[in-house]
Order: sequence, then structure tokens, then C-alpha cells
Amino acid sequence: MPKTNFQSLLLLFLVFLWGNSCKKTAPAFDYQATKTFAADSAAVVSPHPLATRVGLEILKKGGNAVDAAVAVQFALAVVYPRAGNIGGGGFMVIRTGDGEAAALDYREKAPMAASRDMYLDSRGNVIDGLSTIGHLAAGVPGTVAGLFEAHRRYGRIQDMKELIQPAVELAEKGFRISATEADRLNGFQEGFRKYNEAPNPFIKDAFQPGDLMVQEKLAATLKQIRDRGKAGFYEGPVAEAIVAEIQSGNGIMTLEDLRQYASQWRDPVIGQYGEYRVISMPPSSSGGIALLQMLKMVEPYPLHEYGFHSARAVHLMVEAERRAYADRAEHLGDSDFYDVPRDSMLSDAYLRARMASFDAGQATVSDSILAGNFKLLKESFETTHTSVVDAGGNAVSVTTTLNSNYGCKVWVDGAGFFLNNEMDDFSAKPGVPNQFGLVGAEANAIQPGKRMLSSMTPTIVEKGGELFLVLGAPGGSTIITAVFQVFINVAEFGMSLEEAVNAGRFHHQWLPDAILIEDNAFPDSTRQALEAMGHSFNIVGRMAVIKAIQRLPDGRLQGVGDPRNPDDDAGGY
Ligand code: GLY
Repeated sequence: MPKTNFQSLLLLFLVFLWGNSCKKTAPAFDYQATKTFAADSAAVVSPHPLATRVGLEILKKGGNAVDAAVAVQFALAVVYPRAGNIGGGGFMVIRTGDGEAAALDYREKAPMAASRDMYLDSRGNVIDGLSTIGHLAAGVPGTVAGLFEAHRRYGRIQDMKELIQPAVELAEKGFRISATEADRLNGFQEGFRKYNEAPNPFIKDAFQPGDLMVQEKLAATLKQIRDRGKAGFYEGPVAEAIVAEIQSGNGIMTLEDLRQYASQWRDPVIGQYGEYRVISMPPSSSGGIALLQMLKMVEPYPLHEYGFHSARAVHLMVEAERRAYADRAEHLGDSDFYDVPRDSMLSDAYLRARMASFDAGQATVSDSILAGNFKLLKESFETTHTSVVDAGGNAVSVTTTLNSNYGCKVWVDGAGFFLNNEMDDFSAKPGVPNQFGLVGAEANAIQPGKRMLSSMTPTIVEKGGELFLVLGAPGGSTIITAVFQVFINVAEFGMSLEEAVNAGRFHHQWLPDAILIEDNAFPDSTRQALEAMGHSFNIVGRMAVIKAIQRLPDGRLQGVGDPRNPDDDAGGY
């Protein structure tokens, strides 16, 4: 053998040996995300494989979809710290196997010391950042109360401890952080360092994918909740740690705020779209009403004939979105505090009238619908959504959030978790946009004890009286339009669920008066035709991140996670 060839082979061999030794020392992930999974009996889709795994284990132990969803939420509080939480809040829509529908609101509340103008300066201008970062941005957390209440009413596994224990173990023993989580943790170091002190598991010079994340303080808090129930969070040492943290900054939450927090069952928003019955979340989320409004506005038109991402279809859907978001800004807020005209907003007559100004060839100018201000979306979209269906056909669609990535960036030092920055979802001042560019008015003004308006849209769809689709997403203001479009992709454009989720999306929220689109969302010809109608565009990196389950005609369950989040994971059996 010529010498040079021998040297090359030797080099290759050494590289091979080196590669193998690296593999041995590289941190071993014990999970991998699966984007689509067809299951015979039960399915879970969540934003993290370790949380999906916990949900499936609970189902296999005899738990139902609510038990699994509860256990997944606690697990996400550990393995998905940018949005999974016990320091935030959320919404759960449930459809039991025999068709009973329920909606649980465990959205955060404004502390009792909150006031309408608390984020304004002496000249009445919004103080930048006050509602988004730091101690004053936090609403009273609702997640723990909501999960206990969902379990109390619908759980099958008797002892809630079994649903919390997997999260305790993940926090105590640690888990390997994903590449996405490492990237986010590195990106938010400045905020973490500004509002927290080391040692803190989230403060580090450079996180790497595969780093072991151990959260001892969070484990201790989860044990308090496991052993003392809801009171383990809302009273005693954990509550005291939250208030001590709040008082160390400029926050206003008190022990009494925490003690008084309760979740609330609501009448779900239910409406018909052709042969489909759509069940979704009422206020304090805007999701269900806005979704039903959009569906009802486009229903009279032959969307399937127009074709997927044709200029006619996109124009029609955008005009429906524009009108629904204009209504959202004016009419939607916490129905415990504001008389939301829910029935009127969903009446056929109103929605027909709403589309009377629709011109098939011309974009409507948003200012001609209602006046307002605008700015672009400036926060990334971080929330969690989990869809679950169990072997008995019970379905849960649950969305929960800290609002921004890692909420207000304040980590409760004595209890080991991030607090939300949900106060920014109120309208700090009429017409002034929040971090999602959403404007609001009186309906969503700050009041003590009130819940801030959300866009979370956990949704369940029936077809012919049977369970058909479970879906929802994180994504701030783009959640509602994503749920709308994925459903339309399946129902009108005949797509598989995977195609429907993966398809490019567009979003119009009335103000700013522009269509947000994902890069290359649709063909240049569609874009040019829309521009000729008077539409303009803003390109964004990505929209909401759907997690969905469809019951297939043969009875199997197709779970789909969204490629927009590398950690989205579908599983089942
Ligand atoms: N925090 C985002 C939402 O609730 O819509």
C-alpha cells in the first residue's frame, strides 16, 4: 500500500476513534422529539418529550386525559422553564368521552393593589418595560389552583400526588436541556442577572445543549404542593417566598392576593361551522369568541373552491381576522368585570353585517373599521400547549403561559420558579399597544382582582357528534389565527393534520394594518395579487406553534407537533 494511502487510513481510523470517544463523553439525551405519531388508543402532544412521556405514563397507569394533562403541566414547569410554569396561568378546555364540554379559567389576576394607571408616568404615558419585566409585571399565579380544580372535578387517579411526583423527580434528579432551551437561556442572561442573584440554576455564562439542569428549590416547592395541596403554594413557605421576592423589587402582590386566588369554571364558547362543532375558551380569553367570529364570517364563502393560499382565500380570511381583532380590542375583557356582549358578537346577524363592508377585490383599511394606534410585535411567542386524548375518548386542550420567555425574568429565590409578566396583557392605556401590538380599551383596563385578556385558544372540534380535533398553540396574538387556519386547512382544503400544521401561516390583527407572514408562507403570485388589492406585508420568523390530535376515520389518533418548535413532541400507544 502506498505510504500516503496508509497515512490517510490511519488518520481516518484515529478520527473514528476520537469521534467514538467524544460520543461516550457527550451528554446523553434520554429523549428525542417525534413530530407525528399515529396511536391506537391514546395520544399526548406537548412542547417537550419528557413532558409527553410523563403524560403517557399517567395514561398507562389508568389516568384519564385530565390526569395526564395535569401531570404534563407540572412536568413542563420543570423541563420547559421558559413557559411551563407554576408561576403563571392558563386555560383548559375539556370534552369527556360522552360529550360533556367544560372550560376552566385559571388565568392570573391583577393584585388587589393594582390600579388602572399603574404603568403610566405623571404625564399619562406608558412607562416602557414596567408591565413586561421585573416584579411589578407579575399577576397573581393561577396554574396550581387550576390544576387542582381540574383534577378535583374530572380526575380519575385519586391521589394528586401521583401527578406531581414525576415533576419532583425531574427537578431533583435533573434533565438534559435541549438545544432550543440552551439557546433561549443564553439569550436571556441579561434579564436574569438584572433581576436575580447567583447562585441560580438559570444564571451561567454559556449553556450547552445536554447540560444537566437540576432545580433543588423547585423540587422543594413541588413537594410542598404534592404534600399540602393547593395550600402548599398559596399559603405557607412558598407563598411567603413569593411575597418576599415581590417585596425585594417594586412589586405589589401580597399574601392575601395569593390566599384568595381561585380558578373559575366558565361556559365554553360553542359554535357550528358546517358539520363541525367547535368548543373553545371564553373570556378571560379572547380566543374562543374571536375564533368563532372568524369561522362564521368565512363560512358563507366557498373557500375550498378558492384553494389553499389563493389570493381570494387569503384575502377573505384576512378580512375576517381584521374584523375579529377590531372587536377584540373594543369588546373583550374579563367577563367578571366587564359586560362582554358575547351573544351579540357571535350572532349570525351581527357577523353578516360585519362582513357587509367586505370587498372581494379590495383590502379594507383598518382605520375605517375603528381608530387606533399600532406597533409591531416585539416579543417572541412563548406559551405552552398540550393536547391529550385518552382511551375513553376524553379530550383535553390546555394552554398555559408565563407570557414572555421566562415571564418577568424574576425567579422566586426562595421557591425556585419564574413569575409571569401577564400584567402586560391588560390595556395599560386605551389605544396603546402591548408587546404583541394588541390594543385594548375599557373592557381590558386594569382593575384589582381582574383577569387580563388572553389570546389563548385551547379548542376541541367535533364532527358528526364525535371527537374530531384537539388543538391549540403558544404564539401570543397569533394563536387565534393559527388555530383558525389549521382548522380551515383540514376542514376546507382537505389536508392531513401534519400538512395543515406545517403549512405557512399569515396573520392580521386589525392593527398594525398589515398581514404578518412567515417567510415564504405563500407564492409570489398570491402576494402580488394581495398587494394589488391594497394589502401590505410584514415578514416574521414564525407564528404560533400548534400541537394537535385528530381522530382519523379508522379510529386511530394522529398526534402532530409543530416543526416550528424543535422540542414539540407527539406520542401515544
Ligand atoms: N400572554 C399571551 C396571551 O395570553 O395571549
